[in-house]
Amino acid sequence: MGATINGSDMVSGDLSVRLAARQDLEPLRLLMDAAISELLRPFLDEEQIASSRLIMGLDVQLIEDRTYFIVEADGELVGCGGWSRRATLYGGDRTPGRSPALLDPQVDSARIRAMYTSPSHVRRGVGRLVLARCEAAAREGGFRTAELMATMAGLPLYRACGYVPVEQVEDARGGVPVPLMRMRKDL
Ligand SMILES: CC(C)(COP(=O)(O)OP(=O)(O)OC[C@H]1O[C@@H](n2cnc3c(N)ncnc32)[C@H](O)[C@@H]1OP(=O)(O)O)[C@@H](O)C(=O)NCCC(=O)NCCS
Repeated sequence: MGATINGSDMVSGDLSVRLAARQDLEPLRLLMDAAISELLRPFLDEEQIASSRLIMGLDVQLIEDRTYFIVEADGELVGCGGWSRRATLYGGDRTPGRSPALLDPQVDSARIRAMYTSPSHVRRGVGRLVLARCEAAAREGGFRTAELMATMAGLPLYRACGYVPVEQVEDARGGVPVPLMRMRKDL
């Protein structure tokens, strides 16, 4: 990780990472929308993609907790993702059944949350970069394991980064069942 310039930690090539702030909300929503529309298409039908929108997306709590990161390339938002010390495993602001309860790092797994890359910037290491940053922060927070709920689009990234499947899930809260995989990694 390189020097800090203007609040951004300069990292590899033209990519930089910084904490997300409230003024990033609208660009973040647009990025997530594009990623859900385009990158889930090889794995899900249109109904499942519509259903996914209700069980995925932005969780403003992560921004307030200062655990949500943005990746920029030459100042353009190209990716995002975060981690959490709260119980909610996945889902956006509109997803039912969320829990803000604080986890115990001694016994619980940190959550990896809401990873999205702009369709114009996939396979350039953006997801890997955010994930490494989240894992480092969770480790610093005392967590020994990390857990996440993977979409079918996210599965290859998480496998490549050392996460192992622990439970196959179907979430029908958005209307039709959407396949998901709960995964875990020792930090
Ligand atoms: C999942 C997602 C964030 C991955 O982002 P990304 O920036 O393209 O990922 P990276 O470039 O860091 O990929 C790192 C490694 O993961 C694996 N990987 C990532 N995407 C892959 C794909 N579509 N097919 C196969 N392997 C893939 C590869 O091993 C890759 O390394 P390589 O490119 O050197 O082979 C992106 O596809 C996305 O936004 N998907 C839609 C939203 C979503 O479902 N998010 C997950 C929520 S759980």
